[in-house]
Amino acid sequence: MHVVETINSIIHYNKTTVNQMKLKLFSCALFLAATCAAQGQHVMNVNTAKLGANVSPTMYGLFFEDINYAADGGLYAEMVKNRSFEFPNAFTGWDISGNVMLKNDGPFEKNPHYVRLAPSGHRDKHTMIENHGFFGMGVKGGEEYRFSVWARVPDGGSAKLWIDLVDNATMSDDQKLGNAGVDVSGKDWKKYTAIIKPKRSFAKAHLRVWGDSKVTTDVEHVSLFPVKTYKGRENGMREDLAKALEDVHPGVFRFPGGCIVEGTDLATRYQWKNTVGPVENRPLNENRWHYTFTQRYFPDYFQTYGLGFFEFFQLCEDFGCEPLPVLSVGLACQFQNGEGAHAKMNELQPFIDDCLDLIEFANGPVDSKWGKLRADMGHPAPFNMKYIGIGNEQWDNLYFERLKPFVAAVRAKYPNIKIVGTSGPDSEGKMFDKGWAAMKEQKADLVDEHFYRPEAWFLGTGDRNNWPNCGALRYDSYDRKGPKVFAGEYACHGKGKKWNHFETSLYEAAFMTGIERNADIVEMATYAPLFAHVEGWQWRPDMIWYDNLRMFKSVSYYVQQMYAMNKGTNVLTLTTVDPNDAKGKKLIPVAGQEGQNGLFASSVFDKQTNEVIIKVVNTSKQAQNITLNLQGMKGERTAETLTLQHNGSMDDENTLDKPELIKPVAGSVKCEIAGKKQQTVLNDAVPAMSFRLYKVKK
Ligand code: AHR
Repeated sequence: MHVVETINSIIHYNKTTVNQMKLKLFSCALFLAATCAAQGQHVMNVNTAKLGANVSPTMYGLFFEDINYAADGGLYAEMVKNRSFEFPNAFTGWDISGNVMLKNDGPFEKNPHYVRLAPSGHRDKHTMIENHGFFGMGVKGGEEYRFSVWARVPDGGSAKLWIDLVDNATMSDDQKLGNAGVDVSGKDWKKYTAIIKPKRSFAKAHLRVWGDSKVTTDVEHVSLFPVKTYKGRENGMREDLAKALEDVHPGVFRFPGGCIVEGTDLATRYQWKNTVGPVENRPLNENRWHYTFTQRYFPDYFQTYGLGFFEFFQLCEDFGCEPLPVLSVGLACQFQNGEGAHAKMNELQPFIDDCLDLIEFANGPVDSKWGKLRADMGHPAPFNMKYIGIGNEQWDNLYFERLKPFVAAVRAKYPNIKIVGTSGPDSEGKMFDKGWAAMKEQKADLVDEHFYRPEAWFLGTGDRNNWPNCGALRYDSYDRKGPKVFAGEYACHGKGKKWNHFETSLYEAAFMTGIERNADIVEMATYAPLFAHVEGWQWRPDMIWYDNLRMFKSVSYYVQQMYAMNKGTNVLTLTTVDPNDAKGKKLIPVAGQEGQNGLFASSVFDKQTNEVIIKVVNTSKQAQNITLNLQGMKGERTAETLTLQHNGSMDDENTLDKPELIKPVAGSVKCEIAGKKQQTVLNDAVPAMSFRLYKVKK
């Protein structure tokens, strides 16, 4: 029998003696609670009667960066690589044959290159260009693909372009997966489109464009998109990947990075103004992650900016979450560049202008310069942006002195915008403390913290000399008077060659109970990185993996989703008796501390659904019996549960071939009623190495 029931049956035994017994029973209850914990029964009290701090609607979100082919070759559904012939080697990604010439006086000022397809003068020498896509092009049999090209006939008249989708691995008639023709006419550049319907699926298709055998034709911005993109947009996103993001139910979306904001150097930093307006005229930029592949040669990682700031804001609107753009503070990556590589203080104005103009682009009226551009792009209504990040992983005085004029300018013109500063790349230490102190001094609204740390850090079992604030207790001691926390990049990086495996994801879930308990200071948290192409990654673990046709959600994805979909509106106090307190009086959180056998827990209330939500993570190798006293709740209830556990090896992970090996499973637990007050009590055995979430209607 459980503790509460025992006490209450004693009380029922003889009503007349209740008052005399009260004192003794109270001591008895505390004694039993402590004893039970020692025996493996963990008693936790959830105070459902008193609502604690608000949980910010932005609490659990997404962080997007174009790393691991996350944009071009990933979320952005364009299938043609180097579509505008602007890569340093203009034919990267293309095979050419016959009479093909590169020209540079094309119709798009910022992407001036195009190719001239001229007849070879020989009956059998065909002029043709063939694009390899990003690790091939993934096409699905029976689905429609929209080919488009800007073209002209420089000498006037008309010409025919033939377009084939091909499977080069097949040497038979079956090689051609689908085709279309385009009739080009006149000397002026025009956009032509055609639909191709492949007869079968193939993950590694190529796109061929054949020049007219008799007439010279110029082609530029050669493009192929699935018709079925997310929300059916022409310059759209891969449907499966965008849907996976939507399904997280994120509260905030941070973009466009990461180090990409800073660039390899200042010249290659992310400049949002280059990412808006017609896609054909968005200039190419080298990707900061271009040089960082360990497993492949890297001549081809560039940003077309087809997925640019307008599209990012649009996605935020689709997902119903807050946009959080991050801009350069005039510092190139501090890891890679010496002091002289950065913008000098007297060179900062264009960077500050970019920041103010971005707010106008997102929120300004349609008759303002940048608000008009937003309207021209199809979105007259403001995007209602509320946050702006200034600087990514910046540190020390170089950063602090540059941030100041940005803060002054934003405060003066847009006092309601919340400014997100950064504490640098470390999760603790001298520079981290200095960063926080500077952010307090400059009155940043939030501080972006990053922590890619091993298991012991996430579990809070690490060396406190190095990691004074590791684990789920991290935020308990944070100063409540300064800026709020944005845990902007984090993931548990397992020791050894284990990545995205079940165990580390479980420890992320354990750590996140501490984020939830401290919702009064933590306003948002985003796992990182988000995406990775299985053939083109340089960083792992990542939340979502894919090839050209398939994708899978990592276990970390499910952890994030379980939190984001059950974030509630208010924190509830969840405590247990400190097993080390001889008097049995001291109440402490459940955060994997001594005597708690690796249990972590937190609780919230959701005003919209009237539910008490409790998250329990058992990081021990044994199942653990828990008693949750739902103080303030009476009578019978059934708790819905969602459990993330795995019976196989803790090193197992989801894969393209087994995408759903590990995923949350729904269930239920019937609560019990204890004592005269009919208090609702939830008794359960939480499986070894599992994350279980309980939802009980209040
Ligand atoms: O998420 C990958 C990288 O990690 C980010 O670009 C950077 O901010 C951090 O160092």
